[in-house]
Amino acid sequence: MKTIFNIPKNLTPDSYLLVKKSRPLFGEISVGGAKNMVTKVMAAFLASDGGECLIRNAPFIGEVANILANYEQLGVKYSFFPDRTLKVNFKNLKDFNLGDENTIGSRISILMAGPILKHFGQAVIKTPGGCKIGKRKIDFHLQGLKNFGVEIKEDGKFLRMKVKKGGLKGIKFKLPFPSVGATENMIITAACAKGETVISNCAMEPEIMGLIKILQRAGVSIIVNSDREITINSSENLNFKDVTIIPDRVEILSWASAALATKGDIFVKNAYQDHIVTPLGILEKMGAGIEINHDGIRFYYKGELKPTNVRTEIYPGFATDFGQPFAMVLSQIKGKSTMHETIFDNRLGYLETLNSVVKKNKFVLKNNCPVNDPCRFKNKGYRHLAEITGPVEFGKGEVEIQDLRAGFALIIAGLLSDGLKIKYLDLLFRGYENPISKLKSLGADVELVNG
Ligand code: EPZ
Repeated sequence: MKTIFNIPKNLTPDSYLLVKKSRPLFGEISVGGAKNMVTKVMAAFLASDGGECLIRNAPFIGEVANILANYEQLGVKYSFFPDRTLKVNFKNLKDFNLGDENTIGSRISILMAGPILKHFGQAVIKTPGGCKIGKRKIDFHLQGLKNFGVEIKEDGKFLRMKVKKGGLKGIKFKLPFPSVGATENMIITAACAKGETVISNCAMEPEIMGLIKILQRAGVSIIVNSDREITINSSENLNFKDVTIIPDRVEILSWASAALATKGDIFVKNAYQDHIVTPLGILEKMGAGIEINHDGIRFYYKGELKPTNVRTEIYPGFATDFGQPFAMVLSQIKGKSTMHETIFDNRLGYLETLNSVVKKNKFVLKNNCPVNDPCRFKNKGYRHLAEITGPVEFGKGEVEIQDLRAGFALIIAGLLSDGLKIKYLDLLFRGYENPISKLKSLGADVELVNG
């Protein structure tokens, strides 16, 4: 694979980040482009009928590197420049196979099905993996693709797909839950199909709107109706132009959490207010310092914060991805807070991991929901409610990252601890650009130890 900048090389399973109690983080960092937009745009681009596309503000993260590896396998030519512009040329897709042992079965590979099927009538895709935050089924994706006219054989490792005679045909499909990935998959596949597609009960995350915008600019007719319904009519020829990736809202809120948990003061350059209105409101109500400027947002500790009960929800609610770093803020607030996770059935496992190094006030995980809460996980036995009684005191020890956002939460815990060795860093670099140098520039005591 060609160079992707700023991702440490030679990480081994023994590499770790040593994070020690630090002074309050202070200073300015820049937020990167949104992982969950750039990767979807890269998948959609495969539907191109030729020509060159430009992605600006593409972050230097592992997940982009994974997709570039997929591009190489498919024969797509690209150049990735130091100013974060990714130039891609789709003249000759040469393979329909994303399924050999060496390819990475990320969540994005299944979004490439529609475009590959459009060009080749068949596709082999490794069954998606992704962060360990719950069952992460793909039944909505598979049902939708079947409705478009795709025959799918699954053997546990690979999905082997073939388009039935007549090609991909527009569908009417109601998603059982507003899944982000399934909504995106249906939109991308509809852009590759003949006729009209109407998808209802869609997710509406800002990254999905970003995807819709670039498809519209490529000639696809898309109407976002009321009640989470999206209507798509493709065009004969898809010619993508250039696109600028929006700032990563989860990264913005990760740094906000680091500032508040360490009682510090961080200016997140290029942060947008638009996509984080709900969490900003909650932070403000808790007593956090927030200053919204034209070129970024300052998050700062201005005095004791109030305990808070948070419920993660689909957009525009409080994002599940923010829940993990934010729990570290709650851990430092005097009194009892709760975090109720309603999107993924096993997203709170990292708190159990952290309990192994907690000296005082362990996190308590429960499988019940708050009274009268219409939670879809009610009575299912999932440990999806955390009671957090602060201030939690972190001792020293070794912890393993299980998923990307939990990785950032472990780092914040490390900044408040007697010393944490944090392992499985590739999961962190999958979605955060330059986290170590950013942390160091803010005064964090962190050191990468290559085992
Ligand atoms: C996306 O995952 C993001 N990943 C996640 O971010 C994010 O947490 C999540 O959306 C929710 O916002 C990417 O965009 C790559 P879903 P996705 O389909 O699309 C169930 C990060 O750290 N479901 O919206 O996989 C599913 O199990 C990552 O950046 C089915 O049952 O999430 C879950 O309970 C982590 N069947 C719920 O829907 C399906 O076929 C929502 O999942 C699909 C989903």
